[in-house]
Amino acid sequence: MLKLAPSILSADFVNLERDVRALGPAGADYVHVDVMDGVFVPNITIGIPVVAALKKISPLPLDVHLMIDRPIRYVEDFCKAGADILTLHVESDFPANTRAALEKIRALGVVPAVSVKPNTRAEAVLPFLELCGLILVMTVEPGFGGQSFMEDMMPKLRTLREWIDARNPGCELEVDGGVNERTGKLCAENGANVLVAGSAWFKSPDPAEFCKKLKA
Ligand code: DX5
Ligand code: ZN
Repeated sequence: MLKLAPSILSADFVNLERDVRALGPAGADYVHVDVMDGVFVPNITIGIPVVAALKKISPLPLDVHLMIDRPIRYVEDFCKAGADILTLHVESDFPANTRAALEKIRALGVVPAVSVKPNTRAEAVLPFLELCGLILVMTVEPGFGGQSFMEDMMPKLRTLREWIDARNPGCELEVDGGVNERTGKLCAENGANVLVAGSAWFKSPDPAEFCKKLKA
């Protein structure tokens, strides 16, 4: 069953509670929260207090995507704030620190996950595959919503689907960036089972219908 994770980066921050409460009834499965530090990516968004606030009002699990430098420094805070899935970028630290961070996340009862940027090869995920409950493939350069989908990431997605099926079949495979009705279907055909959608979800005149079409 395909899952949808709307990215609140495209929500109305003045009415964040309203927008987040509307996700479940429209058919969403997770709330995707994009955390950016202005170092790992050239943009700054939200952090630990906002995750803690969302935890109080969101009936859906929080899928927290850390686009920050050396995330091991903050994983405990994000877990304690209420992340249900916590994703790190493999490019954001040395492999030994990434492993230690993932182990820490798991020990705190949260689902550990890693993400790869478009220029990072699928192989970079391999050392962490058995440790993770979700792998995230970026289909845009991380940093901003509303960018165009990179169709050339589909072979990477297929490769990761094969490796997940062979080595860690319970692991989810998520895509993030430029997902709309057409590109979302393409991702599902190529092995993704979780789709992040920011602008396509929040700009849709009828998110429930958008969600239904993707899941059909
Ligand atoms: C980009 C973020 C995405 C972003 C997706 O760095 O990780 O989650 O919000 O936005 P859209 O769906 O508009 O590309
Ligand atoms: Zn994201």
